[in-house]
Amino acid sequence: MSEIIEKLIEEYDSSFYFYDLDGFEKHIQAIKETLHPDIKVWYACKANPLKKILSLLNDNGFGVDVASLGELEQAKSAGVKNLIATGPAKSPKYLSALMESGVGTIIVESRQQLRDLNDVAASQGRKQDVLLRLQLDWEGSLKSVLGGSAITPFGLHPQDWKEENLSEYANLNVKGLHCFQWGNILDVNELGKIWQETISQCVTFAREMKIDLQVLDLGGGLGLSYSDDRELSFPEVHELLVSLKNKFGFKEIWLELGRFSIGKFGHYFTRVVDVKSVRGKNLIVAEGGINHLARPALVGEAFPVSAMRSGETKKYSIHGPLCTALDFLGDHDLPKDLKSGEWLHFKKTGAYGFTESMPYFLCHELCGEAYLHRGKVVSARNPEQSTGWMK
Ligand SMILES: Cc1ncc(COP(=O)(O)O)c(C=O)c1O
Repeated sequence: MSEIIEKLIEEYDSSFYFYDLDGFEKHIQAIKETLHPDIKVWYACKANPLKKILSLLNDNGFGVDVASLGELEQAKSAGVKNLIATGPAKSPKYLSALMESGVGTIIVESRQQLRDLNDVAASQGRKQDVLLRLQLDWEGSLKSVLGGSAITPFGLHPQDWKEENLSEYANLNVKGLHCFQWGNILDVNELGKIWQETISQCVTFAREMKIDLQVLDLGGGLGLSYSDDRELSFPEVHELLVSLKNKFGFKEIWLELGRFSIGKFGHYFTRVVDVKSVRGKNLIVAEGGINHLARPALVGEAFPVSAMRSGETKKYSIHGPLCTALDFLGDHDLPKDLKSGEWLHFKKTGAYGFTESMPYFLCHELCGEAYLHRGKVVSARNPEQSTGWMK
């Protein structure tokens, strides 16, 4: 890979992402080969909506979960045939676009969405398949960007749904439930406990609401370790899902995977602009920070990073170029004689990277994006100076 990266450094002369889509394709093919016909895996587009990633998923028989009009358009332009839609903000206009695009199942997250979607479906003279999204009271300390046990805008509590009489929504076919409020779980036993509890609450709710629970969508949450090389085994996770499906006796279980699918196939490269010591602390100021890679600031967890050479190391705090202390990419061991102009390599940045960042603040350059597929390196996005996008 180092030769490819050296060429990209020369070509871009600016920070960039690089995705190994050969590795990614092998990974999703292995997932596909493992799958029982009643366990369905979707791709959560928000993890990385790069067109080539979406088209490869489609070519390999995966559908995509979209959460905005932009993601819907991106998936359609990548040729994705099978779509579902999650997300807390679905206006009537967006719901119409989802139905007109033939999205198979829409995950309904509020009573307003239920009413609006029924009206949209009626006006199109059709019936739409939906799942209701449940938000459970979660015992314990599980935390995630999706809230864990906190009250969030994702779905409704069973008690809130019970205020609805589903039979009044003649244009909706409620074929199951969606429940997902945890993230980055690295241990199959922990997943087992979370899913077991989630499923029992879903089954009780479905019985009370007279919902024929054909599909249970458990969302994402399969983890990727950023601090070591631990990895979840998909066959073990799959075995767990099959046993839960058989135990509770419903037809299908769905997942929408983001991080676990593309995360480890992404690499982000940026340059050291300055190295200094401030009140006894070693600091690196890099060309790219949360303007290209915001996740460390959002969840307080750094991506693994190395320099492009070895050598005796010392601890540095890495900061990006923005005038806010939030622009921090973690404390890392790097060569003690690191100089400005040297490149840093952040690993496992395939999910929640470029499109989760805050690129416009301070008008820095947008980073490039390139990928390797079938042995060929392709530039999907050239770095772009602010003169290209400032109005
Ligand atoms: C509804 C939904 N499904 C799936 C995912 C993907 O989660 P993960 O990256 O943990 O697989 C997310 C992430 O936020 C989500 O909001």
